[in-house]
Amino acid sequence: MTMAELKTNLTQYSSETVTVVPVLAGETPTILSSVDLGIDAQQLKRLGVTGEAGETLRVLVAASADDGEAVVLLTGIGAERDAESLRRGAGVAARALDDVDAAVYDLAQAAESELEALLTGHVLGGYRFTRFRGDDATRDESVPVAGAIGASEALIERVNAITSAVCMTRDLINTPPSALVPEDFADVATDIFDGTDVTVEVWDEQRLADENCGGVLGVGQGSDNPPRAVRVSYEPAGAVAHVALVGKGITFDSGGLSIKPAGSMVGMKFDMSGAASVLGTVRAVAALGIPVAITGWCMLAENMPSGSAIKPDDVLVTRSGKTVEVTNTDAEGRLVLCDGITLASEAAPDCIIDIATLTGAAIVALGDRTTGLVGNNDEWTGKMLAASKLSGEAMWSMPIPEEIEERLKSSVADMVNSKPGDRSAGMLYAAAFLERFVGDDDAGNPIPWVHLDIAGPSEVKSAYGYVAEGGSGIPVRTLIALVESLAEGN
Ligand code: BES
Ligand code: ZN
Ligand code: ZN
Repeated sequence: MTMAELKTNLTQYSSETVTVVPVLAGETPTILSSVDLGIDAQQLKRLGVTGEAGETLRVLVAASADDGEAVVLLTGIGAERDAESLRRGAGVAARALDDVDAAVYDLAQAAESELEALLTGHVLGGYRFTRFRGDDATRDESVPVAGAIGASEALIERVNAITSAVCMTRDLINTPPSALVPEDFADVATDIFDGTDVTVEVWDEQRLADENCGGVLGVGQGSDNPPRAVRVSYEPAGAVAHVALVGKGITFDSGGLSIKPAGSMVGMKFDMSGAASVLGTVRAVAALGIPVAITGWCMLAENMPSGSAIKPDDVLVTRSGKTVEVTNTDAEGRLVLCDGITLASEAAPDCIIDIATLTGAAIVALGDRTTGLVGNNDEWTGKMLAASKLSGEAMWSMPIPEEIEERLKSSVADMVNSKPGDRSAGMLYAAAFLERFVGDDDAGNPIPWVHLDIAGPSEVKSAYGYVAEGGSGIPVRTLIALVESLAEGN
């Protein structure tokens, strides 16, 4: 990957760097620099600068750091100055500065949170996945550097912890499926936490069988690349809460015997995004030292058709003991997640969050930038939505209508995994299936559970704001924000 390196000591308004200045849109646009650039309203008008989000323009000004001229990149942030508009403006700026080695942000009277937004947006917006480019020049180019006037070492460390976790998640999503089969994913998990406070345990197919994980085993049985479950756990001293994360980790979803049409199969390497975001979140939370315990379960399998694949009509016995009649092998995400949710429930955490590229229906309902949220507990749904407001990663809460229960009935097992011919409320139907596997707490009440269907926002066809093309790393930043809010007692 290519990702900008952050520095504290870059010089602004010099002939050696490009200084990036946000512009606020309005009747007359406002240049938000800390020094007067000598560009008045009339000139801005003649230059066509409006401050609209997405707009960038390079101008030359006299350098203050030396005798030369300094390049200034004006980047529009729209009519509101807030963390999200600054992140987006910086993300767009990073891509506009593709050819530039050093960028410094100048924002007048910047609060620390605003500097964080600019640096985060810049690093995330400029990320590129280059590992599989044949052209050496693209692969080996030098790493660009970036900074912001007023940003401290501590802030840069924080931004690094968060952006490197997001970019690692993106790398995993972008990796071709044959280069990241379940075993490879488990190896990555083992490697990235080597020497950290995070413990990693890998369950191979034998262990999965010993542990009665018939869901993930069933999905994986058609592939030459056997399934895995990876448990990652971070248990800081004095933890104020315990959150379990369960990620869908289908390293490729062909649909299995209920095979997808050719066009719909393209892109299905991304079907492990949920599991990747579990690793990303745990990595950032551990790097930031947040006093919240996290147990992550990555449920990994390759969904392939073959002579050994599960068939429509088969019945799987899941870890919970509940049986599932498979009516569609392409509804495999819920079959791996149900075992993960059961495993997570066994430790009775304060909340279980599952993250999955689960349904095409989520995209039909909410488009490709919004995560579909379903939960069993209003308080935790509220906490998640509040975290999503902070991160700028959009989420929308949806219900589980009671009439869906009826549609889960099977004539031979405890439930079916899909209702053939009935496509209504596909996202909510999948959530209703998952909810059946959420266990009870010690008092016998259902453990709070939040389901995040990221089928839409997980992968983007063309970059926007600070979301680069390809895997987005959504919802890692939201999950970090949620965990931080728990540590703050919210
Ligand atoms: N991985 C897909 C979900 C998906 C589909 C994400 C399209 C992004 C784009 C999932 O495993 C799947 O195939 N779901 C089926 C469920 C159906 C068979 C009940 C779907 O959404 O069509
Ligand atoms: Zn599928
Ligand atoms: Zn899938």
